Amino acid sequence: NTIPVITIDGPAGAGKGTIACMLADKLGWHMLDSGAIYRVAAVAALRRGVNLQDENTLAALIPTLNIEFKEGDAWLDGEKVTSDIRNEICASATSQIAALPAVRAALLTLQRNFRQLPGIVADGRDMGTVVFPDAPHKFYLTASAEIRAERRLKQLSQQELSAKLCDLIQDINARDERDTNRPVAPLKPAADALVIDTSSLDQAEVFATVLHYIA
Ligand code: C5P
Repeated sequence: NTIPVITIDGPAGAGKGTIACMLADKLGWHMLDSGAIYRVAAVAALRRGVNLQDENTLAALIPTLNIEFKEGDAWLDGEKVTSDIRNEICASATSQIAALPAVRAALLTLQRNFRQLPGIVADGRDMGTVVFPDAPHKFYLTASAEIRAERRLKQLSQQELSAKLCDLIQDINARDERDTNRPVAPLKPAADALVIDTSSLDQAEVFATVLHYIA
């Protein structure tokens, strides 16, 4: 496949989504937010009351779902689920189902189908390692759990939602722990990825680093 891909992986709150959007905008490319795909699948599982450890039922459910992204919104079977996929309950359910190999396998083709001309910027946990191992440019963004929790707190307060920093740190650590230690597609930088620690960088600095590397 000669359609260009740039992958941006890393833990929750490292700033992948923002950088991926900025890059896709700048290049005029498509964008794949793979976490959103996992999140929509988790919403479907929660709504149908499927046990989040029931790998076979979850894997059978996924091909029956119509998961779409259009006009900046996420859709499940024709219903807008943009806000449903962004709460912490969904995030936690998502990382539980994302640990199951059959669930990941069921979502693989859907993700690869986003590879369309003129190119895509793909953000997630395993974009550079599993989904698009042949991507010519790979990035891995990371930051300390405290900094990532602070960024999340700021985001929430902009949406007029409240949370306690210590709870967010705990959530982030639990999610990282699950994402990093799962046997399939664990969160880790691809061997050929550029690792950027964003703890002491602002968005503009991270973006400049990424652009410099691509050029
Ligand atoms: O990136 P985001 O926070 O939306 O991802 C939600 C969860 O989906 C992650 O914690 C992870 O468990 C899972 N995920 C994944 N592989 C990806 C993207 C997301 O396992 N490529």
